[in-house]
Amino acid sequence: MLTREKSIQGVLFSSEEIQTRVRDLGQQISTDYANLENPLILIGILNGSFVLCADLMRQITIPVEIHFMSVSSYGSGTESTGIVRIDKDLRVDITGRDVLIVEDIVDTGLTLSYLRELFADRQPKSLEICAFLDKPETRQKPVEVRYIGFSIPNEFVVGYGLDYNHYFRELPYIAILKSEVYQG
Ligand code: PRP
Repeated sequence: MLTREKSIQGVLFSSEEIQTRVRDLGQQISTDYANLENPLILIGILNGSFVLCADLMRQITIPVEIHFMSVSSYGSGTESTGIVRIDKDLRVDITGRDVLIVEDIVDTGLTLSYLRELFADRQPKSLEICAFLDKPETRQKPVEVRYIGFSIPNEFVVGYGLDYNHYFRELPYIAILKSEVYQG
């Protein structure tokens, strides 16, 4: 069993830093989407984004709906494959609606590129992305992300919804995993 003591190299963003940034993002989103005809639709991409979604929607002061979609990329380990499987699709019609995809991290960009195309085909009125963490060094496919919490170096990060083999999603902070953990 992996413990924090054995696995965590150090804290990248404290809980306080995260909450401050989430508050700023919520304010910015509330300003940008003020005066919509219908509530803004947030689409959380499970599993990683559930913590961010819960915090972010409570910092948004305009009417919002939250819906979730579950996707996974084929393959295992720490590498993205680019092949995305839909495990649970949306149960809301987003045609003509303002949609904001909420993700915990954009890494290669393969997942969000796929999702952006998928949702664009459903003809929303507007479609933007909020990703809390951005790893620009590992991008394989360019993807336009309107709201970014923090840009980070190419480290394996866990906590605040992000996991390593289902461990560490519960951490209230974002931490760097020791390389020996994922390199065996
Ligand atoms: C993570 C994250 C994104 C994706 C980003 O999900 O939540 O969906 O990887 O990587 P990419 O930019 O390289 O495509 P993951 O597949 O780890 O699933 P999880 O959210 O259930 O942890």
